[in-house]
Amino acid sequence: MNYSGKKQLVRDVRFLSSGSCVPEKVLTNQDLERMVDTSDEWITTRTGIRERRVVDPSQAASDLAAVAGQRAMEAAGVKPEDLDAIIVGTVTGDHLFPSTACLVQAKFGATRAFCMDVSAACSGFLYGCELAHSLISSGKANLVLVIGVEILSKFTDFTDRNTCVLFGDGAGAAVLGVGDESHHIVSSHLGADGRYGSLIELPAGGSRMPITPEVMEQRLHYLKVKGNEVFKLGVRGMTEACIKALDDAGMTAADVDLLVPHQANIRIIDATAKRLEIEPERVFVNIEKYGNTSAASVPIALDEAVRAGRLKEGDLLMLVVFGGGLTWGSMLVRW
Ligand SMILES: CC(C)(COP(=O)(O)OP(=O)(O)OC[C@H]1O[C@@H](n2cnc3c(N)ncnc32)[C@H](O)[C@@H]1OP(=O)(O)O)[C@@H](O)C(=O)NCCC(=O)NCCS
Repeated sequence: MNYSGKKQLVRDVRFLSSGSCVPEKVLTNQDLERMVDTSDEWITTRTGIRERRVVDPSQAASDLAAVAGQRAMEAAGVKPEDLDAIIVGTVTGDHLFPSTACLVQAKFGATRAFCMDVSAACSGFLYGCELAHSLISSGKANLVLVIGVEILSKFTDFTDRNTCVLFGDGAGAAVLGVGDESHHIVSSHLGADGRYGSLIELPAGGSRMPITPEVMEQRLHYLKVKGNEVFKLGVRGMTEACIKALDDAGMTAADVDLLVPHQANIRIIDATAKRLEIEPERVFVNIEKYGNTSAASVPIALDEAVRAGRLKEGDLLMLVVFGGGLTWGSMLVRW
């Protein structure tokens, strides 16, 4: 594109639709009781999780992502060839490369779309939405499909009770397009602090530590979490991200009709909502069914909230995420 003499475009951007896809197979707390030294009572009281979904060995991220994306496109009345870009938030893609976004594009023939993955762990979907917002707002794109997908079960150590109870697989998606005064993204805020990178990490499998028999013996090809430290930073990060987006919009938490937070732990969600003085009736929670699905958590919750009729036209929606990196973000949306 030649920029010389072009006037800067700034357009409103909106969510046109949502979609999601979770695997059929359910892994319950009772199943985990038979695998590690844990109990349904410990898991539900400490995390709020009762069950999670896991893929079959043959399934990978692009399989769930394509179905969630297809459902979001159908809900928006958009055809694959209408898409200008596909952005996939994931840290458990099919391969290190090609990107999962490219694989999704090939699955439904979105031939006009450019494609990329965003690596921001649990914040990946909102990071993707922020990029889509910039592309559409500036006039470089009209329709962008943003997907959050994670296949954490293939990177989870099912002999480690500290982590294996927390995570699940799934995909969620949204089509973003040109908005108007009544339907638009009002404000947003993203942040990161790489000094805390080791709090949630997958040590092996990248260029720092390729997978070898020794690495596998030490189980370093599975994700590691320092849960207690992440817990405190998560509550603070999500609360501050919401306040930043509200301040930028000249609003307060009292204006929010529905908060859709990252579903990592019910106690993190409750503590965040309490600090914001948002009562439980204005918070969407589905962690009991899926556990923490990382980048897929907010778009799955958003899709379920939409299908449950929890969002009316004109409602003020707050999306908020927090995860590995560390990364965090919030987005205030006039639905
Ligand atoms: C992981 C998490 C549930 C632990 O809850 P917690 O209240 O912080 O637990 P604590 O760390 O105080 O206590 C852990 C104790 O429970 C034990 N424990 C851990 N997992 C257990 C399990 N599945 N079943 C039974 N006991 C378990 C530990 O061994 C430890 O025992 P110890 O005190 O004898 O050493 C919680 O910290 C959390 O959800 N953190 C965020 C998770 C995260 O990082 N998500 C990804 C990024 S969003």
